[in-house]
Amino acid sequence: MGAPQLATKVGAAELHYEGRVITLPVLEGSEHERGLDTSRLRELTGLVALDYGYKNTGSCRSEITYLDGEQGILRYRGYPVEELAEKSRFVEVAYLLVHGRLPLLAEQQDFSELLTRHSMIHEDMTQFFKNYPEHSHPMAILSGMVVSLSSFYPELSQGNVDEELAHIDITATRLLSKLRTIAAFSYKKSIGEPFVYPRHNLKYCANFLNMMFSSPVRPYDANPVIERALNVLLILHADHEQNCSTSTVRLVGSAKVNLYAAVAAGICALWGPLHGGANQEVIGMLEGIQRQGGDVKRVIERAKDKKDPFRLYGFGHRVYKNHDPRARIIKQTCVDVLRELKVKDPLLDIALELEERVQSDPYFVERKLYPNVDFYSGIIYRAMGIPENMFTVLFSIGRLPGWIAQWKESQEDPEFKIQRPRQIYTGPTLRHYLPIQERG
Ligand code: CMC
Repeated sequence: MGAPQLATKVGAAELHYEGRVITLPVLEGSEHERGLDTSRLRELTGLVALDYGYKNTGSCRSEITYLDGEQGILRYRGYPVEELAEKSRFVEVAYLLVHGRLPLLAEQQDFSELLTRHSMIHEDMTQFFKNYPEHSHPMAILSGMVVSLSSFYPELSQGNVDEELAHIDITATRLLSKLRTIAAFSYKKSIGEPFVYPRHNLKYCANFLNMMFSSPVRPYDANPVIERALNVLLILHADHEQNCSTSTVRLVGSAKVNLYAAVAAGICALWGPLHGGANQEVIGMLEGIQRQGGDVKRVIERAKDKKDPFRLYGFGHRVYKNHDPRARIIKQTCVDVLRELKVKDPLLDIALELEERVQSDPYFVERKLYPNVDFYSGIIYRAMGIPENMFTVLFSIGRLPGWIAQWKESQEDPEFKIQRPRQIYTGPTLRHYLPIQERG
């Protein structure tokens, strides 16, 4: 896959400003989404487009993910996420996102073989883990380690993106494979256990689970229910068009830093509680409700109180205004996994009650706030034995193929530009420096 297709010009819009009429092209994508091309706005009018939070602003054209928030549709490279979650595996979806099509059998085998071959990290890197303070958040370790990979695998020399693109297959595979190892090592560090190295005879998810849960004194056989659920969760997180962390990867990448540095920046963005960090916050919130004797109504009232900064984590989304298709699958997966593992988690009952009450509360109905991808995922992770501070790390592993595909697409786009927004300055007008003795 190379540069994304150009959007088709289907019309024009007129802007009347200071007695002049300025014509701006209207473009249409392959799913008939329309956008106003404002790229010449400042040149033609002297105006900049101001759009807080980019609620209306498209930053690129892209062929990777199609999302319709009104209809609750999410597709990777044209394939509905529901179909992929049911029939595919994470490694295949990663190939699809990065390469633009599903692999043939031989390609799938080569890809799996490469993932296996590159799963170790340089032994010197294991020293870095040792020097992080105890109880460091694994997301801090993960971002630090990913940017450090650029020192150990310098074929991606800074600034030479053509060289990087020539090596993208190997780099993408290396990153996909090593992120999983780094994630498991950061967990082992946080609990003070020795690292467990990747194994060549295990598939991607089983290998990760083994590195997380086996130890020199305790073997681990991944339960197929857990392995399958992990595949589904990673697939559902694999891309989500121009979300905060992906936009970060594109923006940082637009300065022509290497892929590792751009992905490390994406990991930092994902950590935030309004983004991928919400999955950890959800469990904290549900546990808080449990401690308060299951008083769901209290947190709902707090979330509605404009004087209280508290929000219902796991609810609301910038683009989904009907339902989040990922949340529906995750909710069903959560119920199935707990049943199959015979786990009784009181937090699931609290979550179900919270969702039910929220969905009949006018505050949430009017604002179109529904459970998002983070609401039920944490309960599945708990049932798998994954600790809370690893939830967002799991999100990062899932999101990595999307970050790589989006970085690659942006670098290959003939419209490539360094991303550099403008502003409207509202600070002091010109004033002159006074020596300190003369300042009042
Ligand atoms: N609880 C209570 N009120 C909310 C919530 C919430 N979770 N989410 C939005 N609102 C209210 C908000 O106060 C505002 O009300 P009003 O119109 O009266 O001022 C209205 O709904 C619109 O909210 P917004 O903040 O303008 O919407 P946004 O698109 O800027 O924010 C969001 C989207 C996801 C940051 C927000 O819904 C939120 O903070 N949710 C909780 C955090 C969360 O679960 N994040 C994970 C998102 S999904 C995973 C991912 O892709 O990162």
